[in-house]
Amino acid sequence: MCGIVGYIGPKQATDVVVKGLSALEYRGYDSVGVALIDQNQTGQVIKQAGRVENLKPLVKQQAGKSQLAIGHTRWATHGLPNSVNAHPHSNNAKDIFVVHNGIIENYQEIKDRLTEHGYKFYSDTDTEVIPNLIDYYTARSKTFLAGLKAALNDLRGAFAIAVITTREPTTLFAARFSSPLVIGVGNNEYVLASDPNAIMAHTKDVVFLEDNDLAVINQTSLKIIDFSRSMPKKPKLELLDYDQEQAALGHFPNFMLKEIYEAPQTIRAATRGRVLADQGIIKLGGLESVNKQLNHIDRIVIVACGTSYYAGLVGEYLIEELANIPVEVQLASEFKYRKEPFSRATILLAISQSGETADTIAALEKAKDFGCLRLGVVNAIGSTIARLTDAGVYTHAGAERAVASTKAFIAQVTVLTLIALHLSKGENKDYRKLLNELSLLPQKAAAVLEQAPEIKRITIKYMDKQDFFFIGRGYNYPCALEGALKLKEISYIHAEGYAAGEMKHGPLALIDKDFPTLALATDSNELAKTISNIEEIKTRNGPLIIMASAGNKKVASLTDDLIYLPKTMEQTQPILSAIALQLFAYYIAEAKQLDIDHPRNLAKSVTVE
Ligand code: M6R
Repeated sequence: MCGIVGYIGPKQATDVVVKGLSALEYRGYDSVGVALIDQNQTGQVIKQAGRVENLKPLVKQQAGKSQLAIGHTRWATHGLPNSVNAHPHSNNAKDIFVVHNGIIENYQEIKDRLTEHGYKFYSDTDTEVIPNLIDYYTARSKTFLAGLKAALNDLRGAFAIAVITTREPTTLFAARFSSPLVIGVGNNEYVLASDPNAIMAHTKDVVFLEDNDLAVINQTSLKIIDFSRSMPKKPKLELLDYDQEQAALGHFPNFMLKEIYEAPQTIRAATRGRVLADQGIIKLGGLESVNKQLNHIDRIVIVACGTSYYAGLVGEYLIEELANIPVEVQLASEFKYRKEPFSRATILLAISQSGETADTIAALEKAKDFGCLRLGVVNAIGSTIARLTDAGVYTHAGAERAVASTKAFIAQVTVLTLIALHLSKGENKDYRKLLNELSLLPQKAAAVLEQAPEIKRITIKYMDKQDFFFIGRGYNYPCALEGALKLKEISYIHAEGYAAGEMKHGPLALIDKDFPTLALATDSNELAKTISNIEEIKTRNGPLIIMASAGNKKVASLTDDLIYLPKTMEQTQPILSAIALQLFAYYIAEAKQLDIDHPRNLAKSVTVE
């Protein structure tokens, strides 16, 4: 949530920073700003409500020549998204400039203290205390660095900050605690960012900051200090494993559509080298170091948020059926409040696309005290969750840019299928068949995509509806939940997912001619019961869109709005259903002419609890 960029080097710093902000805009996009130290060593701040695109002309007109700048794109937590609350924030003397991700939990206490010392505050943000606190401590310290360290040690909560000051006009400072920051190391230049998307155009050599790291960056040197212990650390250089191509739109109008269309290659990438169908084995290198422990599991607890949580629910069905291990899926945001008994033989499995979701990180932190094995199914390589877990399986979906998660869900469910098969040790009756089905799945995903024009045709009829139900049974139930989430987040239509069998326990009361239901009625042992639920809706004049398995004529007679999906096994059905549901939500949002990649009030990576 929110994006930070910083630059020090020979180029026009604001150009690099503004370009970086565009790459990070998916993290938050309600206001934006830059601060720079110009050639006369004067500080300048340019900021406003709205998008990076609107800031560009202002920066072009107003920014002086500069080799040192920081920038921020904001997702508001404290205070309205206006120009006063936009970052960067400065101290009262206007010579220290700060951009910040995260939340300073003790900001009110610091604000009260600083107010007693005569400091004034102009914004509603928690961030504004930071430059003033630095000011306070630097006035009482021998060096700016000493004052900065003292200020950092006063801050509670989660933060990643970048700081520039006219008092040290050739230094970029950055610090992290529970919020990611990465430094790209170029040729006599450094690019700082809250995620690698802003860096990959410049270099693949990076240093990921760890908690309590304070980076002191000059054009030719990078020093890292543990600010809590005042100890120097050796920067650990790593190679960024990112494909720049994936960050570009190509011929697609937006990232969501591009990412939906990446489903076949996403399945291929998630299974490549892992599904050895001819040898009848699943090979998960990321779990090799913990394979022995995996023989003695009493239960798996999956923690995740949003779409990743729904993928986890599919995982629950998969692991219980295929590996016969009890699974419980918990919302990461609630996991921390439970006082459940937790044995050392229980595994905590965190699922996350970004690897930076604060609630999921908090769940992992809590589980540390249980002494259990902590595994990850993560997309972003090198992310906080990937680093926090003992072992795991990367989903390899590549960069996902649209706020609405699509290909990440496909990759997560694919990987969870592999984990379930791995844990089954080949003992489930469907093991071999599933290995084969997984190798056919990319083609079947492509066949769903070919249905896009038909899905679009049906969808448009429903664009003016206010409410929607999504229903399904068994493996299709978590898909119904995910389908509803997709629709509400990008089209702003109220949508709820239900287990089809639950309709008659309450929700059916809402059904009338204006309340449509999308029913997932693909071939399964539960199909007859789902058809009964569909009939119950039809009898009450509820409009119906049905997704069914190719060739199922019985379902065809129930509605005019029928979407056929390729036949597959029940366990792999969620992957194909999800692609069709993603297209369904997409085309409604497109018909409503909404900003699909940037839904209102949301951000891609939710780094606050
Ligand atoms: O990065 P994560 O997978 O941990 O993110 C979890 C949720 O914030 C995310 O899936 C969110 O629900 C998406 N906007 C859904 O499309």
